[in-house]
Amino acid sequence: MIRLSIIGSGNVAQHLIKAFTKSEAVEIVQVFSRKKEVLLSLLNEDLIITDLNNFQPADLYIIAVSDNAINEVSKQLPFQNQLVVHTSGAAPIDILDPKNRRGVFYPLQTFSKSKDVDFSNIPICLEAENTFDYRELESAAKCISKAVFAIASEQRKALHVAAVFVNNFTNHLYQIGKDICDEHRVPFEVLKPLIQETAEKINTLDPSDAQTGPAKRNDSNTIESHLAFLTNENQKNIYNILTQSIKNGKKL
Ligand SMILES: NC(=O)c1ccc[n+]([C@@H]2O[C@H](COP(=O)([O-])OP(=O)(O)OC[C@H]3O[C@@H](n4cnc5c(N)ncnc54)[C@H](OP(=O)(O)O)[C@@H]3O)[C@@H](O)[C@H]2O)c1
Repeated sequence: MIRLSIIGSGNVAQHLIKAFTKSEAVEIVQVFSRKKEVLLSLLNEDLIITDLNNFQPADLYIIAVSDNAINEVSKQLPFQNQLVVHTSGAAPIDILDPKNRRGVFYPLQTFSKSKDVDFSNIPICLEAENTFDYRELESAAKCISKAVFAIASEQRKALHVAAVFVNNFTNHLYQIGKDICDEHRVPFEVLKPLIQETAEKINTLDPSDAQTGPAKRNDSNTIESHLAFLTNENQKNIYNILTQSIKNGKKL
């Protein structure tokens, strides 16, 4: 039985609470939240603490707070030489206070509180300072996911930057697409099968082989007419940058 505690009550903390609660091999000892009420639908009230000094002993402490707060929270922990990890893709392992044994438990997925996820398929990227702690993290991760990877801080940063492109930027492009649809009173709904198929394709094709569109074909007349159609300067700039990037192929 792995006994673990979580610090935070945001998107990642809530999904971790749900996933670990389902595992019979894990006991959630306590969860720290600055706002107790946020977690009342997920946990027994007596498991929620609002003062870090009230932590009881556990095998593992998972800090799932905003990147900017990880260092400060790790310093505030009232114990030493325990296994403490953060869940960030962007922050290095040494952002954590060295008074504890440090590690990373990064679930590579986009989490929103309101959207359920199947944790069993979510890659969990682990890092620890020694083999013993790595094994402990691996045991905890395998209780909730089939996809567990050893990823060092520099590799994790590369994955995180790549994830910003494939997830955050892609979603922002959905937003631009929706704005254009709304402006011209066509339903965004019509584009959803295209969005699905674009994502599905990379299961069987390399992204460079899956690329289609006017930039790939070098259809300059179409590109010019699209740029003339767009009235928003920001949209024009993004269209130009991405068109150029596609034309350049893999060279950015
Ligand atoms: N969301 C994702 O898709 C995702 C995916 C993978 C990894 N991550 C990583 O997971 C971590 C948490 O992300 P999230 O999306 O769960 O963030 P979030 O939903 O914005 O929640 C942030 C949490 O941090 C707490 N917090 C912020 N500053 C604090 C401080 N000074 N002291 C104590 N608690 C503080 C917040 O408490 P209050 O509510 O009281 O402000 C809240 O519980 C980040 O490191 C992020 O990079 C996120």
